[in-house]
Amino acid sequence: MPNIRCIGICTGGGDAPGLNAVIRAAVKAAILKYKWKVIGIPDGFDGLIWPEKSRELGLKDVSGILPRGGTILGTTNRGNPFHYKTIENGKEVIRDISDEVIANSHKLGIDAVISIGGDGSQKIALELFQKGLQIVGVPKTIDNDLCATEITFGFDTALHTATDAIDKIHTTAESHHRVMVIELMGRDAGWIALEAGIAGGAHVILIPEIPFSLQRICDYVAERESYGKRFTIVVVAEGIKLPSELRQLSRAGAVGNLIGDGIALTAHKEVRVSVLGHIQRGGSPSPFDRILGTRFGVAAVDLIAQGGFGKMVCLRNARIESVHIADAVGQLRTVDPQGELVRTARAIGICFGD
Ligand code: F6P
Repeated sequence: MPNIRCIGICTGGGDAPGLNAVIRAAVKAAILKYKWKVIGIPDGFDGLIWPEKSRELGLKDVSGILPRGGTILGTTNRGNPFHYKTIENGKEVIRDISDEVIANSHKLGIDAVISIGGDGSQKIALELFQKGLQIVGVPKTIDNDLCATEITFGFDTALHTATDAIDKIHTTAESHHRVMVIELMGRDAGWIALEAGIAGGAHVILIPEIPFSLQRICDYVAERESYGKRFTIVVVAEGIKLPSELRQLSRAGAVGNLIGDGIALTAHKEVRVSVLGHIQRGGSPSPFDRILGTRFGVAAVDLIAQGGFGKMVCLRNARIESVHIADAVGQLRTVDPQGELVRTARAIGICFGD
């Protein structure tokens, strides 16, 4: 068993509801179960560039943070110590400051670090582990696209927010007999769009994993009109691959707007577009995300106590387990176009534009 007296915690990459639940659980378990000291590292690994900005986290510091969105530690999706960007003499310079970061963690007395983050942050955690830093990972992302865990915290809250937005779009679409396009996040994975689309009763769902054509969407809108349904809800994942006819409309802007313009021009329908954006990342975490975050936080502390460095906690078959970070990064978990969820959606008439 490793000799641990003090651990550091940092949150990296885009924030996700439930981060504070992880921080709170890790701080409580470290102090109450193991009597360790905990240091909060601000703004991801950037915080280790300026060790004086780190601060001790006691039980009082995590009191009341469970229902809060965001992260009390702050985060960044630009802070990679192996490719650290600075401006020197007006020019962008990229340096490897990983040695400095590791040395600063030792200066702070940190024996092991919990890195809470998505694929990018876990890749950095792996590199730091390979350089000797004792580190464990906690998977986070609203996109739910990490292959090593069946779900990440943050996704459930984002799903609730997106579903609520589709519900609201529904009533106005029906009243005005419009095609309403709603663009959702998810990067290169279609999980938020697919699941919120099903939960919100969308008629068309476009995801990066299924190529589509504009004509097929317009035919589907016309089919609905032919049996008296004068409105259509189109959910668009931000990461969709645009078909060539839309790429030619090469106008800067979100893909939802391009799809909306395409439908308006081709189907001659009145179309409105909503881009939900960062609202999906905000707000109070759902009970599911609070519980999963708490389980992950405690599991990460236990993993340190067992000397499981270079590993990341995860959920498999609804049980908390751990995997080597090396096996968890680089390969995204995307929607299976032939999978049960897509087949279910198709069975109830949802169109994927293909
Ligand atoms: O990975 C989470 C996520 O919200 C993606 O869904 C989205 O593409 C991206 O982050 C947005 O990042 P930023 O906050 O840098 O705009």
